[in-house]
Amino acid sequence: MVARTTTGHGLDVAALLTDPATRIVVCCGAGGVGKTTTAAAMGLWAAEHGRRVVVLTIDPARRLAQSLGLTELDNTPRPVEGAGAGGGSLDAMMLDMKRTFDEVVEQHATPEKAAQILANPFYQAVSSSFAGTQEYMAMEKLGQLRAEADRTGRWDLVVVDTPPSRSALDFLDAPKRLGSFLDGRFIRLMTAPAKAGGRAGFKVFSVGVTMVTSTMSKLLGGQLLQDVQTFVAALDTMFGGFRERADQTYALLKNSETAFVVVAAPERDALREASYFAGRLDEEHMPLAGLVVNRIQRVAAPSLRASRALAAADQLADAEGPDRSATSAETEGLLRLHAALAETAERQERQVRRFTAGHPGIPLVEVPAAAQDIHDLAGLRAVAASLTGG
Ligand SMILES: Nc1ncnc2c1ncn2[C@@H]1O[C@H](COP(=O)(O)OP(=O)(O)O)[C@@H](O)[C@H]1O
Ligand SMILES: [Mg+2]
Repeated sequence: MVARTTTGHGLDVAALLTDPATRIVVCCGAGGVGKTTTAAAMGLWAAEHGRRVVVLTIDPARRLAQSLGLTELDNTPRPVEGAGAGGGSLDAMMLDMKRTFDEVVEQHATPEKAAQILANPFYQAVSSSFAGTQEYMAMEKLGQLRAEADRTGRWDLVVVDTPPSRSALDFLDAPKRLGSFLDGRFIRLMTAPAKAGGRAGFKVFSVGVTMVTSTMSKLLGGQLLQDVQTFVAALDTMFGGFRERADQTYALLKNSETAFVVVAAPERDALREASYFAGRLDEEHMPLAGLVVNRIQRVAAPSLRASRALAAADQLADAEGPDRSATSAETEGLLRLHAALAETAERQERQVRRFTAGHPGIPLVEVPAAAQDIHDLAGLRAVAASLTGG
């Protein structure tokens, strides 16, 4: 791992993406830091450097989605127009969580049972609102894409974006949470009456219900318990399938063909989150390639410190009387603007230095904040250029 991901303290994204041994790249991080942007930029760059790439995005902003041709929501990858000039190819898809859940059900149950489950209001509630479903389904889809890559040879690199969770850890915790939900006590209690049937069964069931009422109401609001029973009875046959797949995907994430890239904003909270996440990956023996610090403030004259610019602005303001020249006022304004930007840049630099001091082994790369949102291939190429130092 080390050889292919580090040069000095820098994360060598170019080496990571061109290494044929890299088959999966997972972009993680807290909400809003630039995971989707980074995933798309890396996918595009890799495709334009000879890789055959599929990017799984989760929640692309609308304009970015349009640029990637993600207008059809059919849960399958499609070629991105205008990408892949370097001999590779780029396909992209946007995760449809509900559809992916349905596919899993269809794969694991008989057609009859599947239809029963899909029509069940409880299933519909769980499949679209259970906390962690999106994370779980992202992993499920990753597993599917990776398997398809092997089966068809259509892709040699899968780049995965992760859901807009509050915490990056949700992505790693989701399968376990869904797993324990599916075969935990809650489900066993719910299953009892369906199996026992009749009024006697209902009595057992009622006891169970009072024990889990709070969980129930959190999940369902006022859904009918009858729905739960039929749902659970039907799901019962599939528990093994769900758990097995979660375990398989988990194993895939530990594989040396996988590289995690943690994306963070150059701010204390985001870097702290990145730090937790790095710790978790380490515990789980999952391969962390490095950190992308996104949206770094760049200033036009980096050698002019914020404090000096501010002092000069004050001096200008003091030195001249009420009928000062327009040029002087303008200069003062520019100095103050520079001071504000430089202050941000200096603060970010301190935060990044602190992270590096705490994690000297984690290589990182910085991506400057663009003046506008990244919503097209040109914008993605610019981000990729920063990522790869090109
Ligand atoms: N380096 C950057 N410069 C300017 N805008 C950026 C940059 N990176 C991301 N953005 C913008 O920030 C917003 C959030 O980025 P996104 O990739 O969707 O974050 P996430 O997937 O982590 O929630 C988007 O509007 C995106 O265009
Ligand atoms: Mg996103």
